[in-house]
Amino acid sequence: MTQIIVIGNEKGGSGKTTTSMHLVISLLKLGFSVGTIDTDSRQQSFTRYIENRIKTKGRIPDLLIPEHVCIEKKDLPTETEQKEYEAQSFQAALDKLVHNDFILIDTPGSDSWLNRLAHQNADIIVTPINDSFIDLDLIGVITPEMEAIKPGVYSAMIWDQKMKRAAQSGKEMKWIVVRNRLSTLDAINKRNVEIAVDKLAKRFGFSVSPGFSDRVIFKELFLLGLTLHDAKDSNEVKMNPSVLAARQELRSFVLSLNIPEVNNRILKDTG
Ligand SMILES: Nc1ncnc2c1ncn2[C@@H]1O[C@H](COP(=O)(O)OP(=O)(O)O)[C@@H](O)[C@H]1O
Ligand SMILES: [Mg+2]
Repeated sequence: MTQIIVIGNEKGGSGKTTTSMHLVISLLKLGFSVGTIDTDSRQQSFTRYIENRIKTKGRIPDLLIPEHVCIEKKDLPTETEQKEYEAQSFQAALDKLVHNDFILIDTPGSDSWLNRLAHQNADIIVTPINDSFIDLDLIGVITPEMEAIKPGVYSAMIWDQKMKRAAQSGKEMKWIVVRNRLSTLDAINKRNVEIAVDKLAKRFGFSVSPGFSDRVIFKELFLLGLTLHDAKDSNEVKMNPSVLAARQELRSFVLSLNIPEVNNRILKDTG
């Protein structure tokens, strides 16, 4: 059975595309087949990242590439036509990629019909957040005393899609939040956000992954379409202590998704 992973957060710049690419290459490296869908039809950063990788493959033939579909942007005259177009092109993408072990969907940082559709189809939702209370507010409203009092707009959207999915297919949906761009210089904020995220997790039913630190390497990889995994194959990603630490973070993140067949392979490969 194909498992669908959706990387989502209504906030732009939280690390969705970076996380998408790293998770895809992690799964490919473990020997799984992966289809990818870019539903951020406006920015298409995920598509661009993969196109850059295809170019680099000319020079580094060992690079693994997912089977990719980008939902093209169209602005149709009526809402009904727009919804129909988005529903049809999304379904066509799923049908094309359904022979893969995983389908990973990157989404835009805004609410839309297509974005909701993607979330409704998710077996697993992964939400990267920047380590800030402004980002947390989309997940849940917190008082200065750190009490989670009501869902934020994004949790409310997930809850809606979860209910629709349960009604339509009886299937469950797992939700995982990952803190991104963690700073080493910001211990007090980091601790406060951690307390708040744990409260929100209990209240709104997600689990929390160990996060990614803020590292320059993440910004350098896009143009060549590379990831932390490609260090051995390329001269561009030099193995240094920061890259090694980032690779450990990536491994812990993938393990924290708790996908049994993935974890079996990671533990078999690396012990
Ligand atoms: N862990 C990280 N450390 C440093 N920069 C990061 C990290 N994660 C993402 N970035 C950078 O932050 C910006 C936003 O990331 P991106 O993945 O495009 O987010 P989104 O898809 O949510 O808009 C990009 O410039 C990206 O290179
Ligand atoms: Mg993006």
